[in-house]
Amino acid sequence: MSLDMTPEQKELGKTNFNRAVGKLAEADQQAHERDGVNRRRFMQGLIAAGATVPVSAAAYFGYRSHDFPRMRPVKAGIIGCGDEGGVLVGEHNPDFVKFVAYSDIRPSNRRRIFEDEKRTNANSPRRGFKYHYGNDAPNQLRRYDNYRDLLADPEIEMVVIALPLHLHAEASIQALEAGKHVLCEKLMAWNINQCKRMIQVADRTGKLLSIGHQRHYSMLYAHANEMVQNGALGDIKHIRALWHRQNVRPNPDAATRVQRPMLDSWYPIIPADDKAELEANIRPQHYYKSMEELVRWRLFNRTGGGLMAELGSHQLDACSIFLGKRRPLSVTAVGGKHFYTDNREVEDHVYCIFEFPGPNFVRENAASRNNDIITVTYSSISTNGFEPYGECVMGSKGTLVVEMEQNAYLYGISGGTGRNTEVTATSTGGRAAVIDASSSTDAPGARGAQAATGQNAIGQNAPSRGYREEMEHLAYCIRMLNQGMETDRETLKPRCDGRGAMADAIMALTANKAMRDRSRITFLDDWYDAASAAIPDAEMVEEVVN
Ligand SMILES: NC(=O)c1ccc[n+]([C@@H]2O[C@H](COP(=O)([O-])OP(=O)(O)OC[C@H]3O[C@@H](n4cnc5c(N)ncnc54)[C@H](O)[C@@H]3O)[C@@H](O)[C@H]2O)c1
Repeated sequence: MSLDMTPEQKELGKTNFNRAVGKLAEADQQAHERDGVNRRRFMQGLIAAGATVPVSAAAYFGYRSHDFPRMRPVKAGIIGCGDEGGVLVGEHNPDFVKFVAYSDIRPSNRRRIFEDEKRTNANSPRRGFKYHYGNDAPNQLRRYDNYRDLLADPEIEMVVIALPLHLHAEASIQALEAGKHVLCEKLMAWNINQCKRMIQVADRTGKLLSIGHQRHYSMLYAHANEMVQNGALGDIKHIRALWHRQNVRPNPDAATRVQRPMLDSWYPIIPADDKAELEANIRPQHYYKSMEELVRWRLFNRTGGGLMAELGSHQLDACSIFLGKRRPLSVTAVGGKHFYTDNREVEDHVYCIFEFPGPNFVRENAASRNNDIITVTYSSISTNGFEPYGECVMGSKGTLVVEMEQNAYLYGISGGTGRNTEVTATSTGGRAAVIDASSSTDAPGARGAQAATGQNAIGQNAPSRGYREEMEHLAYCIRMLNQGMETDRETLKPRCDGRGAMADAIMALTANKAMRDRSRITFLDDWYDAASAAIPDAEMVEEVVN
């Protein structure tokens, strides 16, 4: 990835990226002036706003923020107030979404969702209900210990679901059936059959279903993708994506010199008050076999989907966006429990190779190795965090690196590795911007860059990761549909809807199957058809605990 680059190389890569974004914007502006065609409103907004004013994410993603709160914020309930529920509450914009109720079965998290964790940890995105609604928030929001009761609350229009994976489908379907619009966290569902049922119910009820792959609402990714679609990288033949963590105790065991696992984020402590309230009756009430399964749900096959569901799905989502939402041809994967010796069932190391069709791929030659194929490699490991996470897109003309959802670097390729190559960006009379490797600088375009990334809701000087925008956009779509804009259904829909998210789930869960079977699996078109019974993971049969 990029951690082995020098600070100078990183700085150059950022400048290159920023300059190219600026030139893309300029080319759009010229096209607009020449043809009067409003091709990319957000890019024009960026130029018009000038160098230092952040471009509005709302304009970028095609919704209007000035309509809120006049349009009345959408009344919402959240189900699942754990780590991610806290991120979503922290990032929500009360002008668009007003939470009126919450549901969680763990007392510790019912308390935590109100607290502003930024006060004790400056980097925390979890600001809690009190930050948004004041210290009286616990009296304002309705608490439901059983989430089905929240779904029956007539005031609630939209439900945010941040539950463990095995409950995504059930809760989403019940919410849609209850007439609520839904934002459900990723991975869309535990198996593909469940994804199809979610899509069918959303279609039948006419309610919106959005899935929380937040990169669809990241301006950094959107601009990186502009670069790729503009052809700046030339002929892309390889993307390398990874998410690596180091879950090892810093000091090796003195006696054996073997490094021991330390408690990782997937193995949290079970809080005493949760135990006291829930342990005795966990099984019949709450879909879990044990307290451990509830708190450490990621570790078990019945409740989680392993590294591919939790981490890999995000990055394969990004890769498929860069490849124009193309579907893979095949996946080969290896991995397993290579490190931990605890009772977890999911793997701690995975390595996958996906083949995607290139633009000149010949279907009739699908069986041949000699075809236009783009190879995406993905790895997720638990023993070494030297390269944390990101994607490196490698083309014949250039390289794009997106690092930790926060930085993007662009390099030309002329001469050696290209890591020291400045990129020239020109916009020529309204045609697509030309971005090329060169030794000359073109500073003015770099202005667009800061504007290109935006800020997150909690005022950190970092690009927004997209959580806030995904909630704002869903609220906007809901309000517009309420106002009778039904004819605009094609535009008034989440950027990551059920069908888009099912494609991500197909990649993640098919990779899991390839890993289990130690095989190479070919993707089939019918898997993507919500009306078809064809699925890649027929052996994944739900085990319901009641
Ligand atoms: N988009 C992202 O970047 C991102 C990041 C992290 C997690 N996630 C996703 O968010 C979801 C939640 O993850 P998390 O890290 O918050 O897990 P978590 O364990 O911290 O939180 C889950 C919460 O759900 C509650 N819960 C479980 N069963 C319940 C039930 N029947 N009724 C009510 N509450 C119940 C638990 O008590 C817990 O508070 C997962 O699907 C995960 O993949 C997404």
